[in-house]
Amino acid sequence: MPGIRRPSAAEGAGDPRFGAGPLLDRHGRTARDLRVSLTDRCNLRCHYCMPPEGLPWLEQPAVLDDEEVVRLVTLAVRDLGVREVRFTGGEPLLRRGLERIVAATTALRTEDGAPVSTSLTTNGIGLARRADALAAAGLRRVNVSLDTLRADRFAAITRRDRHADVLAGVEAAARAGLAPVKVNAVLLRGTNDDEAADLLRWALAGGYRLRFIEQMPLDPHGTWRREDMVTAEEILAALRAEFDLVARPGSARGAAPAETWDVTGPGGLRGDVGVIASVTRPFCGDCDRTRLTADGQVRTCLFSTSETDLRDAMRAGADDAALARRWRAAMWGKLPGHDIDDPGFLHPTRPMSAIGG
Ligand code: 5AD
Ligand code: SF4
Repeated sequence: MPGIRRPSAAEGAGDPRFGAGPLLDRHGRTARDLRVSLTDRCNLRCHYCMPPEGLPWLEQPAVLDDEEVVRLVTLAVRDLGVREVRFTGGEPLLRRGLERIVAATTALRTEDGAPVSTSLTTNGIGLARRADALAAAGLRRVNVSLDTLRADRFAAITRRDRHADVLAGVEAAARAGLAPVKVNAVLLRGTNDDEAADLLRWALAGGYRLRFIEQMPLDPHGTWRREDMVTAEEILAALRAEFDLVARPGSARGAAPAETWDVTGPGGLRGDVGVIASVTRPFCGDCDRTRLTADGQVRTCLFSTSETDLRDAMRAGADDAALARRWRAAMWGKLPGHDIDDPGFLHPTRPMSAIGG
């Protein structure tokens, strides 16, 4: 952004503005929602996310250990005003200490004594085995990624034959009380873009909350093309052919159209559906997120081209006050929006799996 100077973390460390209070930026936003990536690894290889051989994973020593994660999450909740913590990956179920990290997080209280809301974004593989333990650790909700109801298509999209595991994971999560289970679906042109209504029928029948997400330019190979993206408008049109959709009051984001719709379908099916139009109707103006990568870097946006280190500072002995100042300084530099539609748009420096969805 021309004309906007971003303070470096080192600069921020000495700036009295960053000594106390929540995570504010210069555009009037406050971060209350922390996304923590627990690993950049994944046991699927979704075409839009990873090449078949995977990515050059972080080396183990680069990744925060459980104590380090818990320390930074505690700092965020206790000193930086974070109220909601979502664990992501890669695939966060690959992290052995996940239940311990969740338990330590749910034990935290915000400044006003409220419990922290914890959730998990997962591909669902292995969730069937761990749903009860995660619920016992205090996890509130899960978002399971599922793009198709067809096993053959699932194998084509993810390059792994694990469709049944994901369905079992969704069902187990609901039984364990991690409900309502949210299901995230990305539609890909020519692959599963005929499944919008089928997915919604399935979700309504099972009591799951389905959300379609427009495909964002976060693939590591940079092959995303706007023309290939299935837009929110197309998804809504496909759903309207079969369902009555009514924009949920209060879900309108400023001048932007609604994000959540109440649905009535054939046979009296009822529920809601979300359409996250990150590309065609960006909601950056209302963004309340801050992100921590598995290797301890703060990112203020999925699309950031810079990061602020907390890991090395922490390992060099920085105290909580110094780490909090760094985080506040990073937030202050959060850009107003992602400008995906701008010709000058720069791809982020890491793929989605290394940032956390
Ligand atoms: N655009 C939109 N969603 C994506 N996901 C992964 N890559 C992209 C992308 N480029 C989704 C996954 C999962 C969640 C973590 O993010 O499908 O639902
Ligand atoms: Fe794994 Fe999610 Fe990427 Fe698919 S989209 S490969 S499930 S991290």
